[in-house]
Amino acid sequence: MSRALSIGDLRLPFPFILAPMAGVSDLAHRLISRSFGVTLAFTEMISARALKYGNKRCQDMLASVDADRPLGVQLVAGDQESIFAALEVLERHRFDVIDLNAACPVSKIVRRGEGAGLLKEPQRLQQLISLLVQRSGKPVTLKIRAGWDAASINATEIARMAEDAGVAAVCVHGRTRVQGYDGTVDYGVIRKVKAAVAIPVIGSGDVFSGELAMKMFGETDCDGVAVARGSMGNPWIFREITELLCHGTVPARPGKDEVISTMKDHLNLSMGLLGETVGVLTFRKFFVWYSHGFAKVRPLRTKALQARSLEEMLGVIEELRTLP
Ligand SMILES: Cc1cc2nc3c(=O)[nH]c(=O)nc-3n(C[C@H](O)[C@H](O)[C@H](O)COP(=O)(O)O)c2cc1C
Repeated sequence: MSRALSIGDLRLPFPFILAPMAGVSDLAHRLISRSFGVTLAFTEMISARALKYGNKRCQDMLASVDADRPLGVQLVAGDQESIFAALEVLERHRFDVIDLNAACPVSKIVRRGEGAGLLKEPQRLQQLISLLVQRSGKPVTLKIRAGWDAASINATEIARMAEDAGVAAVCVHGRTRVQGYDGTVDYGVIRKVKAAVAIPVIGSGDVFSGELAMKMFGETDCDGVAVARGSMGNPWIFREITELLCHGTVPARPGKDEVISTMKDHLNLSMGLLGETVGVLTFRKFFVWYSHGFAKVRPLRTKALQARSLEEMLGVIEELRTLP
């Protein structure tokens, strides 16, 4: 079954996307995910305001390499001036899609009228989108939630408005801002958005397995699925989704050898990109996620969370072999 996905002039052979995740979808995580079948990956959300002020951490989030394409840069922004400034910075970077975050539930962000705060102000959201569409020269996508709360579900209206403003695709996380990450994803909201617009709709929420990816397609008729938490320590989910979609079969879960060798690849990437100290510190949380399927892993996790050098972290990864 062909499930190619076009976002503006960008054609993806498969509609599997690594969702933007602050603190997770860094370059190493994107490269590892791509090695298992991701066709489009997004950066962590990057504050347009912080870019404007030359924030180093945000600039670092734009780091990429040739193998990290096609790449979507996600901006979180609430005013036009910051978007102008961010676009100026982005001119010096290579990427393929620009996404505006109207989904982030974090209080600090929504208080500034950014992220999911924009769902309450569709007019301002429209101005920001229009600016991005007119000035970025890239396909613009929009990430939204179902609405602010259960009493104000407005994903369909927002998606229609975005389509009119020239957005190339919309990604809908089927939860409200108030829900955060609680409860289960509302497929019905995503299905309604899909029925209301002609641009591609990407479904987000609870894609923790190939089967749940198929459920997202089946329940919502969406054009693509974005995987977020399901990829943390589990990049094989993209292989699983691809095989299920293309061949109808579920591949075997990775064995201990594959988990360990992927962890080492991830650690080496992290270290190569960030240097030994930061690379190892950054990998600590990934160790915890990768080690989910292992029994009696707690002492090793404690060790991993204290590891400071490549040698120490590699040693703890190797020790996973000794677990039952
Ligand atoms: C740790 C974490 C960080 C996230 N950061 C972002 C972000 O920077 N931008 C964004 O649009 N969504 C972000 N999200 C939301 C995800 O992209 C996704 O829409 C949501 O987690 C639902 O998908 P899931 O059930 O597959 O996790 C984040 C989610 C998590 C768990």
